[in-house]
Amino acid sequence: MALKISVIGTGYLGATHAACMSSLGLEVVGVDLDPAKIALLQAGKVPFYEPGLEELLQEQIGSGRLTFSTDFSAISGADIHFICVGTPQAENSLAADMSYVDSAVEKIAKIIKPGSLVVGKSTVPVGSAERLRARLLELNPAVDLAWNPEFLREGFAVADTLHPTRLVVGVATPEAEALLRQVYATNLAEQTPWVVADLPTAELVKVAANSFLATKISFINAMAEICEAAGGDVTVLAKAIGYDPRIGSRFLQAGIGFGGGCLPKDIRAFMARSAELGADQALEFLREIDSINMRARSRVIELVRSELGADLRDKKVAVLGAAFKPESDDVRDSPALDISVQILAAGSDVVVYDPKAMANAASRFPALKFAQSIEECVANADIVLHLTEWQEFRTIDPTQLRTLVRSPLLIDGRNALDRELWQSAGWRVLALGRADTNPRES
Ligand code: UGA
Repeated sequence: MALKISVIGTGYLGATHAACMSSLGLEVVGVDLDPAKIALLQAGKVPFYEPGLEELLQEQIGSGRLTFSTDFSAISGADIHFICVGTPQAENSLAADMSYVDSAVEKIAKIIKPGSLVVGKSTVPVGSAERLRARLLELNPAVDLAWNPEFLREGFAVADTLHPTRLVVGVATPEAEALLRQVYATNLAEQTPWVVADLPTAELVKVAANSFLATKISFINAMAEICEAAGGDVTVLAKAIGYDPRIGSRFLQAGIGFGGGCLPKDIRAFMARSAELGADQALEFLREIDSINMRARSRVIELVRSELGADLRDKKVAVLGAAFKPESDDVRDSPALDISVQILAAGSDVVVYDPKAMANAASRFPALKFAQSIEECVANADIVLHLTEWQEFRTIDPTQLRTLVRSPLLIDGRNALDRELWQSAGWRVLALGRADTNPRES
């Protein structure tokens, strides 16, 4: 008989996990407190943009294996319960807000059947799993709790869930590992690396991985600052160091830095937790990683001022990109939007265009203006800022675009456009970490 699982919390992580686990042959019920979200999912609609997920969701609902409910009693027959609720940054500190995870455990403890396993997937401060396991066993001694962190990237969520680079399971008992092996039997048959750990190590793997990625990005952005000061080119530097397999070329794209719902809040929560553990010195460097990252945003604004003058009032600034990265409509801690609102606050007329993220951006920052196309966005612009590297922006014809702007001035905040092409079409092009190679005006 097919293993039955439940997924608690149907946001990014949960909706993806539910659809993917169903496609692996498991019987899945997804539950959430938000009736609007559940109604959408029941109708085969994904409440956010994630390539390939909606098709998979519809296929799996059609198979009869995947259902959704707001009624938590629907999970009572499941063998395994995956907790996929959010752990955002707390309002008044750097720490993670654990209230959704805590209340999920409280809510399901007495509903679930004896012998079932609760599996946390949310990113949590180390020590949470042991604390939650103790609480769960206090409420229901016949069950167990494990931790199984998730490494999916937005934009590649389906592929990352179906074919993960590794599976990490933090378990307190061999029975818990055996159940998780059943869940991931397909991946194990594909030789996906299987790492068994204790609960704290499993929690730490996740934040260590995200801290490493954030460090890599801030490292190359620090090199960008040095390149600017010394007249070098960070894109050439990144390419050259990336050939060393010990370094690797990925995540060395210099620009306006990292954002989103994970990297920024995870490194902050990790610092906060290390201080609680009396080990804050070990993660002091993450403070610098965060500062370098935030500085990249300020450097774009300085560049705008250096081109348009200190007084930005009444300048028209066109912004290409609002999402925190391409192939996503997520605007949480988006560097592109952060820069946009800072320039708006300086008095400019800021118009933003993004292929997918405008609705989310508008609901967060209604004071920004939004255009329905690239052309409308750049019309009469004094400067164009390229801040999220969507494929659509790479195919822009700079000669045609030049006819629409007031002044052909581009800042490529992601080092992703073809600088020579734009320059040869008559644009002055500036980028972080690259010397100004524009022909000098005589
Ligand atoms: C990140 C991790 O990559 C996932 O492994 C992890 O599961 C996820 O967080 C999570 O904790 O849930 P994600 O937030 O989807 O995934 O995005 P990334 O692809 O890691 O990009 C993060 C940010 O870094 C973006 O703003 C991106 O534009 C920026 N970035 C990335 C750079 O500025 N330069 C680079 O070279 C790469």
